[in-house]
Amino acid sequence: MTTTLDLPATTDRVALYTSLVPQVGELLHDERDVVAAMANLSAAVKQAFGWHWVGFYRVMGAELVLGPFQGPVACNRIGHGRGVCGTAWAEERVLIVPDVEKFPGHIACSPLSRSEIVVPIRARDGRIAAVLDIDSTTADDFSEVDAHGLGRLCILLEPLFE
Ligand code: SME
Repeated sequence: MTTTLDLPATTDRVALYTSLVPQVGELLHDERDVVAAMANLSAAVKQAFGWHWVGFYRVMGAELVLGPFQGPVACNRIGHGRGVCGTAWAEERVLIVPDVEKFPGHIACSPLSRSEIVVPIRARDGRIAAVLDIDSTTADDFSEVDAHGLGRLCILLEPLFE
């Protein structure tokens, strides 16, 4: 297994996801520990796109609990239906927030965050097991291209959640 990412010298996100998805698939191949997999997936996304904060919250009972991430310190726990993460969990869908200040109940872990995307991740039994949360310092930084590309990356984790 290689531990080096070979990324195209471009800012084109379709090209970056096209390159990244198989490489992360290779990186996670044979890995059975979900924490190791989340740690390397967050590092790979951070390295490829340079976003402010890239990380996971895991569903634990009635809360989301902070998992592996890359970026500044963040809040440890988020309630069901709270903030962007808790809402994506409750509604079981990807949320793209172009302007975090206009999202009612947004939890501001960092004053530098301007826009956000949250992708729910299912376990093998179909329930939501975690969310991938990404914050950008650029307003309106996320689109359906990211929802699709990040969704493909998150699917790689699904077999690892009990
Ligand atoms: N902004 C998120 C909280 C998590 S941090 O961004 C890392 C939310 O509103 O759920």
